Amino acid sequence: MLIIAHRGASGERPEHTLAAYERAIDQGADYIEPDLVATKDGVLVARHENEISGTTDGAERPEFAARAATRMIDGQEFTGWFTEDFTLAELRTLRARERLPELRPANTAFDGLWQVPTLAEIIALVRAKEAGTGRRIGFYPEIKHPGYFLDIGYDLAALLVEELHAAGYRSADDPVFIQSFEVAPLQRLDTMTDLRLVQLVSAQGGPADLPDMAYAAMLTPQGLADIAAYADGIGAELRLLLDDEGASTGLVEAAHAAGLVVHGWTLRKENVFLPPLARLGDEPPGIGCEGSVWQALERAGIDGVFTDDPGRSSMWRQGMENLLCDVAGTQLRK
Ligand code: G3P
Ligand code: CA
Repeated sequence: MLIIAHRGASGERPEHTLAAYERAIDQGADYIEPDLVATKDGVLVARHENEISGTTDGAERPEFAARAATRMIDGQEFTGWFTEDFTLAELRTLRARERLPELRPANTAFDGLWQVPTLAEIIALVRAKEAGTGRRIGFYPEIKHPGYFLDIGYDLAALLVEELHAAGYRSADDPVFIQSFEVAPLQRLDTMTDLRLVQLVSAQGGPADLPDMAYAAMLTPQGLADIAAYADGIGAELRLLLDDEGASTGLVEAAHAAGLVVHGWTLRKENVFLPPLARLGDEPPGIGCEGSVWQALERAGIDGVFTDDPGRSSMWRQGMENLLCDVAGTQLRK
Protein backbone atom coordinates (compact mmCIF):
# COMPACT_ATOMS: atom_id res chain seq x y z
CA MET A 1 0.00 0.00 0.00
CA LEU A 2 1.13 3.53 -0.70
CA ILE A 3 1.90 5.58 2.39
CA ILE A 4 0.33 9.02 1.98
CA ALA A 5 1.46 11.38 4.73
CA HIS A 6 -1.76 13.07 5.84
CA ARG A 7 -0.97 16.78 6.32
CA GLY A 8 2.68 15.65 6.62
CA ALA A 9 3.78 13.62 9.64
CA SER A 10 0.95 15.33 11.49
CA GLY A 11 1.01 12.86 14.37
CA GLU A 12 4.43 14.23 15.33
CA ARG A 13 4.56 17.82 14.10
CA PRO A 14 2.05 20.65 13.64
CA GLU A 15 0.22 19.77 10.43
CA HIS A 16 0.93 21.36 7.07
CA THR A 17 4.36 22.73 7.93
CA LEU A 18 7.53 22.12 5.94
CA ALA A 19 8.87 20.33 9.02
CA ALA A 20 5.89 17.96 9.00
CA TYR A 21 6.33 17.20 5.30
CA GLU A 22 10.08 16.74 5.63
CA ARG A 23 9.71 14.37 8.57
CA ALA A 24 7.17 12.33 6.58
CA ILE A 25 9.55 12.05 3.64
CA ASP A 26 12.41 11.06 5.94
CA GLN A 27 10.19 8.38 7.48
CA GLY A 28 9.47 6.77 4.12
CA ALA A 29 6.22 8.34 2.93
CA ASP A 30 5.55 7.77 -0.76
CA TYR A 31 3.33 10.85 -1.05
CA ILE A 32 2.84 13.96 1.04
CA GLU A 33 -0.61 15.51 1.27
CA PRO A 34 -1.02 19.29 1.25
CA ASP A 35 -4.56 20.64 1.65
CA LEU A 36 -4.66 23.91 -0.29
CA VAL A 37 -6.45 27.23 0.12
CA ALA A 38 -5.78 30.70 -1.35
CA THR A 39 -4.42 33.93 0.11
CA LYS A 40 -5.91 37.34 -0.70
CA ASP A 41 -3.34 37.76 -3.47
CA GLY A 42 -4.16 34.37 -4.97
CA VAL A 43 -1.26 32.24 -3.72
CA LEU A 44 -1.88 28.60 -2.84
CA VAL A 45 -0.87 27.77 0.72
CA ALA A 46 -1.23 24.65 2.83
CA ARG A 47 -4.01 24.72 5.45
CA HIS A 48 -6.79 22.27 6.11
CA GLU A 49 -9.25 25.15 6.43
CA ASN A 50 -9.22 28.70 5.16
CA GLU A 51 -10.25 29.61 8.75
CA ILE A 52 -6.89 29.55 10.48
CA SER A 53 -7.45 30.26 14.17
CA GLY A 54 -7.11 26.56 15.06
CA THR A 55 -3.73 26.00 13.44
CA THR A 56 -1.98 29.39 13.65
CA ASP A 57 -1.55 32.23 16.11
CA GLY A 58 -3.54 34.58 13.83
CA ALA A 59 -6.38 35.09 16.31
CA GLU A 60 -3.95 36.39 18.94
CA ARG A 61 -2.17 38.95 16.76
CA PRO A 62 -3.44 42.42 17.72
CA GLU A 63 -2.51 43.79 14.32
CA PHE A 64 -5.02 41.38 12.74
CA ALA A 65 -7.81 41.65 15.31
CA ALA A 66 -9.98 43.58 12.85
CA ARG A 67 -9.72 40.77 10.30
CA ALA A 68 -12.11 38.58 12.28
CA ALA A 69 -15.07 37.77 10.06
CA THR A 70 -18.06 35.49 9.69
CA ARG A 71 -18.46 33.52 6.48
CA MET A 72 -20.83 30.90 5.07
CA ILE A 73 -18.76 28.05 3.67
CA ASP A 74 -20.46 25.03 2.14
CA GLY A 75 -23.67 25.80 4.03
CA GLN A 76 -22.03 26.27 7.43
CA GLU A 77 -21.31 29.50 9.25
CA PHE A 78 -17.76 30.07 10.49
CA THR A 79 -16.37 32.95 12.51
CA GLY A 80 -12.63 33.48 12.62
CA TRP A 81 -9.67 34.54 10.52
CA PHE A 82 -9.61 33.55 6.86
CA THR A 83 -6.67 33.09 4.50
CA GLU A 84 -8.45 35.02 1.75
CA ASP A 85 -8.27 38.13 3.97
CA PHE A 86 -4.48 37.94 4.32
CA THR A 87 -1.91 38.70 1.65
CA LEU A 88 0.86 36.15 1.49
CA ALA A 89 3.21 38.64 3.14
CA GLU A 90 0.77 39.06 6.03
CA LEU A 91 0.11 35.36 6.35
CA ARG A 92 3.84 34.72 6.52
CA THR A 93 4.06 36.71 9.74
CA LEU A 94 1.86 34.08 11.46
CA ARG A 95 3.19 30.90 12.99
CA ALA A 96 1.73 27.41 12.92
CA ARG A 97 0.58 25.53 15.99
CA GLU A 98 -0.63 22.05 16.91
CA ARG A 99 -4.31 21.47 16.10
CA LEU A 100 -4.82 18.77 18.77
CA PRO A 101 -2.81 19.88 21.82
CA GLU A 102 -4.75 17.68 24.26
CA LEU A 103 -4.28 14.55 22.19
CA ARG A 104 -0.77 15.36 21.04
CA PRO A 105 0.82 17.52 23.75
CA ALA A 106 4.38 16.71 22.68
CA ASN A 107 3.75 18.47 19.39
CA THR A 108 3.07 21.78 21.13
CA ALA A 109 6.84 22.07 21.67
CA PHE A 110 6.93 23.11 18.01
CA ASP A 111 4.23 25.78 18.31
CA GLY A 112 5.38 29.14 17.03
CA LEU A 113 8.35 27.83 15.07
CA TRP A 114 7.11 27.50 11.51
CA GLN A 115 5.29 29.49 8.85
CA VAL A 116 2.34 28.50 6.70
CA PRO A 117 4.05 27.06 3.61
CA THR A 118 3.24 27.91 0.01
CA LEU A 119 2.71 25.17 -2.57
CA ALA A 120 5.87 26.45 -4.28
CA GLU A 121 7.87 25.86 -1.11
CA ILE A 122 6.47 22.37 -0.75
CA ILE A 123 7.43 21.54 -4.33
CA ALA A 124 10.93 22.92 -3.67
CA LEU A 125 11.21 20.74 -0.56
CA VAL A 126 10.18 17.65 -2.52
CA ARG A 127 12.69 18.44 -5.27
CA ALA A 128 15.47 18.91 -2.71
CA LYS A 129 14.61 15.66 -0.92
CA GLU A 130 14.44 13.80 -4.24
CA ALA A 131 17.89 15.10 -5.11
CA GLY A 132 19.21 14.10 -1.70
CA THR A 133 17.67 10.63 -1.55
CA GLY A 134 17.44 9.56 -5.19
CA ARG A 135 13.82 8.49 -4.76
CA ARG A 136 10.64 9.97 -6.19
CA ILE A 137 8.33 11.61 -3.71
CA GLY A 138 4.73 12.14 -4.65
CA PHE A 139 2.28 15.00 -4.18
CA TYR A 140 -1.30 14.42 -3.20
CA PRO A 141 -2.81 17.93 -3.08
CA GLU A 142 -6.42 18.55 -2.08
CA ILE A 143 -8.20 21.73 -3.10
CA LYS A 144 -10.33 22.81 -0.13
CA HIS A 145 -13.77 24.36 -0.65
CA PRO A 146 -13.19 24.99 -4.38
CA GLY A 147 -16.81 26.07 -4.96
CA TYR A 148 -16.65 28.65 -2.19
CA PHE A 149 -13.33 29.99 -3.46
CA LEU A 150 -14.59 30.16 -7.06
CA ASP A 151 -17.55 32.21 -5.88
CA ILE A 152 -15.22 34.78 -4.31
CA GLY A 153 -12.93 34.89 -7.35
CA TYR A 154 -10.26 32.25 -6.79
CA ASP A 155 -10.09 29.23 -9.11
CA LEU A 156 -8.12 26.77 -6.98
CA ALA A 157 -8.18 24.10 -9.69
CA ALA A 158 -6.67 26.42 -12.29
CA LEU A 159 -4.10 27.83 -9.85
CA LEU A 160 -3.03 24.31 -8.89
CA VAL A 161 -2.74 22.99 -12.44
CA GLU A 162 -0.80 26.05 -13.53
CA GLU A 163 1.69 25.62 -10.70
CA LEU A 164 2.06 21.85 -11.09
CA HIS A 165 2.49 22.05 -14.87
CA ALA A 166 5.07 24.81 -14.49
CA ALA A 167 6.96 22.59 -12.05
CA GLY A 168 7.03 19.77 -14.61
CA TYR A 169 4.20 17.63 -13.26
CA ARG A 170 2.05 16.99 -16.31
CA SER A 171 1.28 13.35 -17.02
CA ALA A 172 -0.51 10.41 -15.47
CA ASP A 173 2.92 8.84 -14.96
CA ASP A 174 3.99 11.65 -12.65
CA PRO A 175 3.62 10.93 -8.93
CA VAL A 176 0.63 13.20 -8.41
CA PHE A 177 -2.98 12.69 -7.39
CA ILE A 178 -5.28 15.73 -7.14
CA GLN A 179 -8.21 15.21 -4.76
CA SER A 180 -11.47 16.94 -3.94
CA PHE A 181 -14.71 16.20 -2.12
CA GLU A 182 -16.51 18.24 -4.79
CA VAL A 183 -17.39 16.81 -8.20
CA ALA A 184 -17.46 19.78 -10.60
CA PRO A 185 -13.85 20.84 -9.89
CA LEU A 186 -12.63 17.31 -10.65
CA GLN A 187 -14.66 17.21 -13.86
CA ARG A 188 -13.10 20.54 -14.87
CA LEU A 189 -9.65 19.31 -13.89
CA ASP A 190 -10.18 16.29 -16.14
CA THR A 191 -10.30 18.72 -19.09
CA MET A 192 -7.31 20.73 -17.86
CA THR A 193 -4.66 18.13 -17.04
CA ASP A 194 -3.55 14.53 -17.51
CA LEU A 195 -2.53 14.32 -13.85
CA ARG A 196 -4.49 11.70 -11.92
CA LEU A 197 -7.63 12.70 -10.03
CA VAL A 198 -9.27 11.27 -6.93
CA GLN A 199 -12.87 11.71 -5.80
CA LEU A 200 -13.06 11.91 -2.02
CA VAL A 201 -16.06 10.26 -0.37
CA SER A 202 -17.27 10.28 3.23
CA ALA A 203 -19.46 7.84 5.11
CA GLN A 204 -22.09 10.57 5.49
CA GLY A 205 -23.35 13.51 3.48
CA GLY A 206 -22.54 14.39 -0.08
CA PRO A 207 -20.45 16.76 -2.21
CA ALA A 208 -20.90 20.43 -1.29
CA ASP A 209 -21.45 21.35 -4.92
CA LEU A 210 -24.22 18.74 -5.45
CA PRO A 211 -26.74 19.22 -2.63
CA ASP A 212 -29.02 16.49 -3.95
CA MET A 213 -26.29 13.87 -4.26
CA ALA A 214 -25.28 11.53 -1.42
CA TYR A 215 -21.87 9.90 -1.30
CA ALA A 216 -23.71 6.61 -0.77
CA ALA A 217 -25.29 6.97 -4.21
CA MET A 218 -21.87 7.65 -5.70
CA LEU A 219 -20.62 4.32 -4.37
CA THR A 220 -23.11 2.09 -6.16
CA PRO A 221 -21.79 0.30 -9.28
CA GLN A 222 -23.38 3.02 -11.46
CA GLY A 223 -22.02 5.77 -9.22
CA LEU A 224 -18.53 4.33 -9.36
CA ALA A 225 -18.74 4.06 -13.15
CA ASP A 226 -19.75 7.73 -13.23
CA ILE A 227 -16.72 8.65 -11.11
CA ALA A 228 -14.47 6.61 -13.39
CA ALA A 229 -15.53 8.86 -16.29
CA TYR A 230 -13.55 11.77 -14.79
CA ALA A 231 -11.32 10.38 -12.01
CA ASP A 232 -8.75 7.67 -11.51
CA GLY A 233 -9.57 6.71 -7.95
CA ILE A 234 -11.56 7.26 -4.82
CA GLY A 235 -10.29 8.46 -1.45
CA ALA A 236 -12.68 6.87 1.03
CA GLU A 237 -13.23 7.24 4.74
CA LEU A 238 -11.91 4.07 6.39
CA ARG A 239 -15.29 2.99 7.76
CA LEU A 240 -16.57 2.80 4.19
CA LEU A 241 -13.86 0.24 3.50
CA LEU A 242 -13.79 -1.93 6.63
CA ASP A 243 -16.51 -3.11 8.97
CA ASP A 244 -16.13 -3.00 12.77
CA GLU A 245 -14.25 -6.29 12.75
CA GLY A 246 -11.86 -5.29 10.02
CA ALA A 247 -13.45 -7.21 7.15
CA SER A 248 -13.82 -5.61 3.74
CA THR A 249 -17.19 -3.98 3.09
CA GLY A 250 -16.84 -4.83 -0.59
CA LEU A 251 -16.27 -1.24 -1.70
CA VAL A 252 -12.64 -1.93 -2.61
CA GLU A 253 -13.66 -4.75 -4.92
CA ALA A 254 -16.46 -2.69 -6.48
CA ALA A 255 -14.21 0.32 -7.06
CA HIS A 256 -11.49 -1.86 -8.56
CA ALA A 257 -14.10 -3.40 -10.86
CA ALA A 258 -14.89 0.13 -12.06
CA GLY A 259 -11.20 0.71 -12.77
CA LEU A 260 -10.61 3.01 -9.80
CA VAL A 261 -7.74 2.84 -7.33
CA VAL A 262 -8.76 3.02 -3.68
CA HIS A 263 -7.04 5.09 -1.02
CA GLY A 264 -8.38 5.24 2.54
CA TRP A 265 -8.37 8.02 5.14
CA THR A 266 -7.21 8.35 7.85
CA LEU A 267 -4.98 5.99 9.83
CA ARG A 268 -4.19 7.50 13.23
CA LYS A 269 -2.52 5.88 16.21
CA GLU A 270 -4.52 7.38 19.10
CA ASN A 271 -7.31 5.30 20.66
CA VAL A 272 -9.89 8.01 20.07
CA PHE A 273 -9.56 7.55 16.32
CA LEU A 274 -9.43 3.74 16.30
CA PRO A 275 -12.18 1.13 16.11
CA PRO A 276 -12.80 -0.47 19.54
CA LEU A 277 -10.99 -3.70 18.68
CA ALA A 278 -7.79 -1.81 17.92
CA ARG A 279 -7.67 0.30 21.12
CA LEU A 280 -5.17 -0.29 23.91
CA GLY A 281 -6.52 0.93 27.23
CA ASP A 282 -9.24 3.47 27.91
CA GLU A 283 -7.44 6.78 27.50
CA PRO A 284 -8.50 8.62 24.32
CA PRO A 285 -4.96 9.93 23.66
CA GLY A 286 -3.43 6.52 24.41
CA ILE A 287 -1.57 4.85 21.59
CA GLY A 288 -3.58 1.98 20.17
CA CYS A 289 -2.87 -0.74 17.68
CA GLU A 290 -3.37 0.98 14.36
CA GLY A 291 -1.06 -1.64 12.86
CA SER A 292 -3.97 -4.05 13.02
CA VAL A 293 -6.03 -1.62 10.94
CA TRP A 294 -3.13 -1.40 8.51
CA GLN A 295 -3.18 -5.19 8.20
CA ALA A 296 -6.96 -5.24 7.68
CA LEU A 297 -6.60 -2.64 4.92
CA GLU A 298 -3.91 -4.75 3.27
CA ARG A 299 -6.15 -7.80 3.41
CA ALA A 300 -8.96 -5.79 1.83
CA GLY A 301 -6.68 -4.94 -1.10
CA ILE A 302 -6.57 -1.18 -0.63
CA ASP A 303 -4.01 0.63 -2.78
CA GLY A 304 -2.92 3.31 -0.34
CA VAL A 305 -3.68 4.91 2.98
CA PHE A 306 -3.54 8.43 4.34
CA THR A 307 -1.75 8.28 7.68
CA ASP A 308 -0.85 10.83 10.36
CA ASP A 309 2.12 8.64 11.30
CA PRO A 310 4.04 7.64 8.19
CA GLY A 311 6.94 6.39 10.30
CA ARG A 312 4.76 3.86 12.08
CA SER A 313 3.06 2.96 8.80
CA SER A 314 6.47 2.29 7.26
CA MET A 315 7.05 -0.22 10.05
CA TRP A 316 3.69 -1.87 9.49
CA ARG A 317 4.54 -2.14 5.80
CA GLN A 318 7.82 -3.84 6.68
CA GLY A 319 5.94 -6.40 8.74
CA MET A 320 7.09 -5.12 12.12
CA GLU A 321 3.57 -4.99 13.50
CA ASN A 322 4.06 -7.81 15.99
CA LEU A 323 7.08 -6.11 17.55
CA LEU A 324 5.10 -3.00 18.33
CA CYS A 325 1.57 -4.27 18.87
CA ASP A 326 1.59 -7.72 20.38
CA VAL A 327 -1.22 -7.52 22.91
CA ALA A 328 -3.36 -10.60 22.41
CA GLY A 329 -6.90 -9.96 21.32
CA THR A 330 -6.43 -6.38 20.20
CA GLN A 331 -5.81 -7.07 16.56
CA LEU A 332 -8.67 -6.93 14.19
CA ARG A 333 -9.58 -10.26 12.55
CA LYS A 334 -6.22 -11.91 11.80
O1 G3P B 1 -7.90 14.05 1.76
C1 G3P B 1 -8.08 12.85 2.42
C2 G3P B 1 -8.48 13.24 3.75
O2 G3P B 1 -7.47 14.12 4.14
C3 G3P B 1 -9.80 13.94 3.74
O3 G3P B 1 -10.02 14.47 4.91
O4 G3P B 1 -10.56 16.45 6.16
O5 G3P B 1 -8.34 15.42 6.45
O6 G3P B 1 -8.85 16.65 4.39
P1 G3P B 1 -9.40 15.82 5.49
CA1 CA C 1 -7.10 16.24 2.90
